Amino acid sequence: MSETVSRRSALRLLGGAAMVAAAATGTLAAPARALPSAPVPRRVEALLARLTLDEKIGLLHGADDPRGLGQAGYVPGVPRLGIPPLRLADGPAGVRVTAHATALPAPVLLASAFDPALARAYGEVIGREGRALGQDVLLSPMVNLIRTPYAGRNFETFSEDPLLGADLVAEEIRGIQSQGLIATVKHLALNNQEKDRMTIDVRIAEQALRELELRGFEAAVAAGTGAVMGAYNKVNGVFACENKPILGDILRGDWGFEGWVMTDWFAAHSTVAALTAGLDMEMPSGNYFADALRRAVLDGSVPEEFVDRSVRRILSVMDRFGLLDGSAPARPDRDPRAGARLALDVAKAGATLLHNRHATLPLTGRAARAIAVIGPTGALPFVSGGGSAHVVPVHADSPLDALRARAGDDARVDYALGEDLFGKPLPGTSPGADFEGQPVAPRATWTYDGTLTVTEADEWTFCVHYSGDRPKVRLDGAELFPPAPGLGEFFAGGLVGAAPDGLTVRRATLRLSAGTHRLAVTAKGRDKGQLFRLRRTTGAARAADVAEAVRAARAARSVVLFAYEDATEGADRTGLALPGHQNELIEAVAAANSRTTVVLNTSSCTTMPWLDRVGAVLQMYYPGQEGAEATAAVLFGDCDPGGRLTQTFPVSDDRHPMAGNPRRYPGVNGTEECSEGIHVGYRWYDAEDVNPLFPFGHGLSYTSFAYTGLSVRPDGDGLAVGFTVRNTGRRTGTTVAQVYLGPSPDLRLDQARRALAGYRRLELGPGRARHVSVRISARSLSSWDPGRHRWVLGTGTREVSVGVSAREPRLVGHGLVPPRPAGDRA
Ligand code: BGC
Repeated sequence: MSETVSRRSALRLLGGAAMVAAAATGTLAAPARALPSAPVPRRVEALLARLTLDEKIGLLHGADDPRGLGQAGYVPGVPRLGIPPLRLADGPAGVRVTAHATALPAPVLLASAFDPALARAYGEVIGREGRALGQDVLLSPMVNLIRTPYAGRNFETFSEDPLLGADLVAEEIRGIQSQGLIATVKHLALNNQEKDRMTIDVRIAEQALRELELRGFEAAVAAGTGAVMGAYNKVNGVFACENKPILGDILRGDWGFEGWVMTDWFAAHSTVAALTAGLDMEMPSGNYFADALRRAVLDGSVPEEFVDRSVRRILSVMDRFGLLDGSAPARPDRDPRAGARLALDVAKAGATLLHNRHATLPLTGRAARAIAVIGPTGALPFVSGGGSAHVVPVHADSPLDALRARAGDDARVDYALGEDLFGKPLPGTSPGADFEGQPVAPRATWTYDGTLTVTEADEWTFCVHYSGDRPKVRLDGAELFPPAPGLGEFFAGGLVGAAPDGLTVRRATLRLSAGTHRLAVTAKGRDKGQLFRLRRTTGAARAADVAEAVRAARAARSVVLFAYEDATEGADRTGLALPGHQNELIEAVAAANSRTTVVLNTSSCTTMPWLDRVGAVLQMYYPGQEGAEATAAVLFGDCDPGGRLTQTFPVSDDRHPMAGNPRRYPGVNGTEECSEGIHVGYRWYDAEDVNPLFPFGHGLSYTSFAYTGLSVRPDGDGLAVGFTVRNTGRRTGTTVAQVYLGPSPDLRLDQARRALAGYRRLELGPGRARHVSVRISARSLSSWDPGRHRWVLGTGTREVSVGVSAREPRLVGHGLVPPRPAGDRA
């Protein structure tokens, strides 16, 4: 390839709009206007002229991959014309194929770093790996807002704040695409909950839609995303994948998107309506966009022009990425070391210290030399969440090993399980049968029909571990593990749903009376054979586990207790408490040792009734394959916990925006109403004067910072905010300065009491100071006027505060926003 050609294709990969200056840190303004229409490359038009109708239709829906690399989607090309196939792989925290890949920390942990440059590096790692692993399109990033604390995918996305989400999605897309992998921003729009995700009709008013949920998608388009994935749900009465206002008017019309729109998996519902509205590709197969589309074209219900339009969009992106003329750079090798380095950096940068009493952390001196590690996820690494964002890592250390290695040989680090996730062998069965690892040969059936003797009445949790089909287990005639409804079954979670050896695990809890119970098990080997185990935990066994944890806590100077919550797409959480009996375990351990740190490997917010009794709480979410080392580094103070909350943590299940309002969540009669309007996340807590457990933006450092000297002045169409930050402590540390903007006195529209308008992540050595400037963009100063269907500038004197969370302003000032010349739009 000549130098000129390779340089040209590198520019093409970035895309015109992506070259709009991307400041390394701080606020990135989402360009507000539609991009100028790029001419369709001649190559694409020439191909279109030669493609038959069947070949064109073959490009518009998924099919089975003859090479089967384990990715989610495949579109055959047209070899006759040199159009290569497309392989489309998930997902948000790394490349999900059969081969191992770098399991990066969950996107919510990335977001917690408030660092767009890091998001770019994260995208670069995934982009390179995706290409190395034979993929062409990445089904990520996800930028739906965190609207409800219960949503099963809150770990896969970034934030409840639209500015932060927009900055990060744009940079991540630039990173992914800089490596030649096509990014797919998802799920347009309003897939903010998993409950009834396939059918729910999300009702939302124009202002909230534009200002909140769509801001991230708009930024993704401006950053040049090649593809967009439509959501499962309906938006204002029409399925997202055939929604003309969203796909046609906004995405293509207002934002000038020139790439292609694909469905979420099995999210198509029509042929003509969808194609007409602006859908281009049905995944993963062709229920509506294969034969049905061919018939529709032939009988004239849809003009062939519409087929051409979609093919043109797909081929144009392929051409932009050099996939049509062979100018795409050669597929690189994976760089596992670089991936691991970045995974570690992100996990440290996003680690969020929520609570730290009496300097429980960092662990130093005697507290660092006699430690009890407690909890199942203290030994088993919790790498990633479940569903399509689950990545199979090359390796992942156990936190216990990492803590032992860091504490050194002269330290004592003991371990207690505390809560048993996978059960112990069954006692008292008759006739005696081996429920521990029964291999069932292909086509064979293994059965047990006998009794189970229980000596004392107790609560039992049966755990079945299995490969292949789930064995049928009947206790006293009742099926213990009936099939779960919908996709919940398919997307078995990340950690808790799989035994350490990879077998799937299901649990059933019930009270058993003392005496003899009838137990019947049938396991079928089917084609591949299977392995299964049937185990149990009981109340008595649990009490013994807690007692052992308490003993370990007493014998140690400090405790690190790993708590988990296992989320997956396809299912929402049913409550905000930690699952299982973890709250009781934490209470018991903290009563035995007040220097207890709780490390949270959870998907989103949790309630913490024990907060006042523990020494520290470190939020690590799903920290990826290097999570153990990152957690150890933060606990021992090798680095400052660099993360801040990107979502508000409520005090309880009845003090958050969805509480007591089933129409808002989970919806009533198939309809969900976004009646909180623009007051998503912290905006709602402000509007309703509700105190959260931890506010948006919260996170502690091991050092302290002073903020001084606020200045606010007009800067072009925005405001320039300046201030000085000084590290007043004795350690190097990180602060995230957050700039919040108050409402405009001149707008008669609903406005937030304060909204994040900029931020800057800073690392400073002890005693060091830095002057910081943060620009507030015209977009942040504007509101969407539903009467005029456009952005309007919020003029007049506006409060500008700089703080360390949405609830902790350190400096407060004002800035005057003058009116703009007529016709000038945000
Ligand atoms: C998810 C998408 C994912 C797709 C392919 C769907 O169930 O909602 O986010 O990309 O599956 O795995």
